[in-house]
Amino acid sequence: FHVVHITAEMAPCAKVGGLGDVVTGLARACLGRGHNVEIMLPFYECLPEGVVEGLKLEREFDCPKGATRHGQFSLNALRTQVWTGRIEGCPVLLIRPDWNQTNLFRGGRIYGGSYNEAEAYLYFSRACLEYLRLSGRRPDVVHVHEWQASAVPMIFWDGPPGFSKDMPSTRVVMTIHNMDSSGECRQDEFAATGVSGELFATTDKALDERTIGHNPERLCLLKGGIVYSNAVTTVSPNYAAETLHGGAAGWLKSTLAMPGVAVKYSGVLNGIDTTFWDPSTDPSLPACFTPQQQEGKALCKRFLQEGLGLSVDPKKPLVAVVSRLVPQKGIHLIEHAVHRTVELGGQFVVLGTGHADGGLRGLATGQFRDNPDVQMRFMYSEELAHQIYAAADVLLVPSMFEPCGLTQMIALRYGTVPVVRSTGGLADTVKDVDNYQGEELRNGYVFDGIDANSLNSALDRALRAYKEKPEEWKELRGRIMADAMRFSWDTTAGTYISLYGQVLSM
Ligand code: ADP
Ligand code: GLC
Repeated sequence: FHVVHITAEMAPCAKVGGLGDVVTGLARACLGRGHNVEIMLPFYECLPEGVVEGLKLEREFDCPKGATRHGQFSLNALRTQVWTGRIEGCPVLLIRPDWNQTNLFRGGRIYGGSYNEAEAYLYFSRACLEYLRLSGRRPDVVHVHEWQASAVPMIFWDGPPGFSKDMPSTRVVMTIHNMDSSGECRQDEFAATGVSGELFATTDKALDERTIGHNPERLCLLKGGIVYSNAVTTVSPNYAAETLHGGAAGWLKSTLAMPGVAVKYSGVLNGIDTTFWDPSTDPSLPACFTPQQQEGKALCKRFLQEGLGLSVDPKKPLVAVVSRLVPQKGIHLIEHAVHRTVELGGQFVVLGTGHADGGLRGLATGQFRDNPDVQMRFMYSEELAHQIYAAADVLLVPSMFEPCGLTQMIALRYGTVPVVRSTGGLADTVKDVDNYQGEELRNGYVFDGIDANSLNSALDRALRAYKEKPEEWKELRGRIMADAMRFSWDTTAGTYISLYGQVLSM
């Protein structure tokens, strides 16, 4: 198939969280199976120099871009460049607006710049489709991700630009990585696509499926993406069930349950890139290791303890968190776990960034400031993340909700035992070593509640097992490392490829 991803993130250079990993991992796996895959991404000003191999200017064109003032829609254009090259072996098409005319995608980071994000990604969505048409590309599948690319299926199937007429065999697949960001915008902001938002703002009940505006003033882009795409996936089967039967999708639950949507909606478990995350070859590590030869892991632990200024002690269980520090991730439980781990004689390491880091920063500079068993780094570092996955004994993921979660799968690959809350994709991928009754490998410790006692019920067991049964722990470590290969994109990409086949036969 010829598949074009349209996305706001791509690992490793334009990544904030798992979205970037998924796009790169899935694309590489599909390329490996002989499919033709391209990734369309904004040309963020903050892309590190030199990350795009063979970077070259491919084309310049005037991208239609509108504005609505005093209820009047008018159409203009924004000069747009498309740059091509390769990132991590994947062909990329980078969309760059003329920075003499606009500051969209400028600034030192991917999100949170001083421009209007809705405007930026709405323009980006139009520019991607416009370029696909101009360049004569007729992809089989346009695979869009998150609210940032949700306008793509809307304006592909509907509205004056007529993309679906010019690309009649193309189908659109959408993947939702997190229902928490639904991409709300004002109706007039939608004009950045060059299409008036009014087209999608009907509140006529008879048109319910096509009613993207849930109040007269605003549009929900995620809903637009869901309604207009040929297939919609989210990133784990259990999260899909939680969105349909629980509260995980908020008010979008009723959209997902609409008969026309329910039939095309499914949960497809994410994978991990087992070449990028490979303890037997990882260039960030001081020593490599495998399920059969685990000695290198002890060296990685020592290296991290020394490097971060922890007391160097191979016997202390090392618990780690690698995470965006936002409420989703269960920050109050992470804070509690720091206390609990130290009480039980372990060490705790946090690597993370995010607006909810206040409590943890307080612990790092207050009570645990001179404690040789606690270290926190409030930064983004790919290299340190690799070193932590390799060095730690336990990875804690106490999320309040988690569409899939990649860190627990990466941890398994590095023989680091996950302790997770039973939610979303965490429940699909981690099975409790003491309590799970089913067929799959028992590979971690799981708790249910959102209170400290629930967390203790899993963390305490993990730390006790580490200390009291070292032989069993070593055996568990070997088994989970070997078993983690089942989370490889090489295996799971197959589900997306079948889905592409299904939408093409529609
Ligand atoms: P989410 O997408 O919700 O952030 P995931 O578990 O799906 O959660 O993916 C998180 C990804 O981001 C993982 O690859 C993880 O290693 C990485 N990551 C998170 N925080 C950091 C950080 N501070 N430094 C480096 N990598 C990080
Ligand atoms: C989101 C979710 C996370 C998921 C990732 C990749 O950021 O929070 O659970 O693993 O996307 O799909």
